[in-house]
Amino acid sequence: MNITELNRECLLHVFSFLDKESRRNASLTCRRLRFLFHDAALWPLLVFHSPSELRRDNFVLGAALRHLSICWHSSRVKVCNIEDWMKSSFQRDLCRKHENIVGNFLWKVSSKCPSLRSLSLAGCGHVTDQHICEILQSCPRLKSLQLENCVRITDRTLHAVTTYGTSLASLRVDFCRNVSQAGLQLVRTTCPGLEVLAERSGGMIPDSQPDEREKLGRTLQKLLLYS
Ligand SMILES: *[C@@H]1O[C@H](CO)[C@@H](O)[C@H](O)[C@H]1NC(C)=O
Ligand SMILES: *[C@@H]1O[C@H](CO)[C@@H](O)[C@H](O)[C@H]1NC(C)=O
Repeated sequence: MNITELNRECLLHVFSFLDKESRRNASLTCRRLRFLFHDAALWPLLVFHSPSELRRDNFVLGAALRHLSICWHSSRVKVCNIEDWMKSSFQRDLCRKHENIVGNFLWKVSSKCPSLRSLSLAGCGHVTDQHICEILQSCPRLKSLQLENCVRITDRTLHAVTTYGTSLASLRVDFCRNVSQAGLQLVRTTCPGLEVLAERSGGMIPDSQPDEREKLGRTLQKLLLYS
């Protein structure tokens, strides 16, 4: 018996054990497996570890997607977590490129994956409040949102959580330095049923421009001088 003679359910089961690349490779062998590759039921879960993975044609974004995780810890991506004014022009270009890739991807998620239940983003310095707001609005069944070390995320995302996160049961905001304690408090009081965990976020000091820091330094010096 040839593998392609198995019924759809069996083939989906077999395919479910393969990683994205193997699924794609198998899909290039015949029309039956190509068809299977595009079966939305095969893609309830997607996990990515680098921005370039988002551009490969080895996965399908569809209505069946329930769990999405994007977790980047490489030093090339970490650079995008520092402020723009601290980056070299090479780093700035690289981050802009990543930003476009991630932006396009998340935009597709918000337009194609209304059943998303959990979203986890770690080390994504490119992700903005706008992206999260769009996902919260288009994925009304989102139950779990985890953000770790996403510098661009601010209290705007927390406001969006109180407005659109009607199904949210769990929110984690770890090491997001541009989120304030007041923003977290707002979520806690507005959504008492929501579990809010925040490690270090709210207590971190946002980076400020060098001239502001100089001014602050001078003021401190004066204070010390006259006290
Ligand atoms: C998929 O196919 C490509 C090109 O033939 C090959 O280089 C790669 O190793 C294959 N990957 C897997 C996981 O089979
Ligand atoms: C974080 O907040 C600081 C101070 O408000 C601001 O200067 C900076 O641009 C923000 N960073 C990002 C990446 O949005």
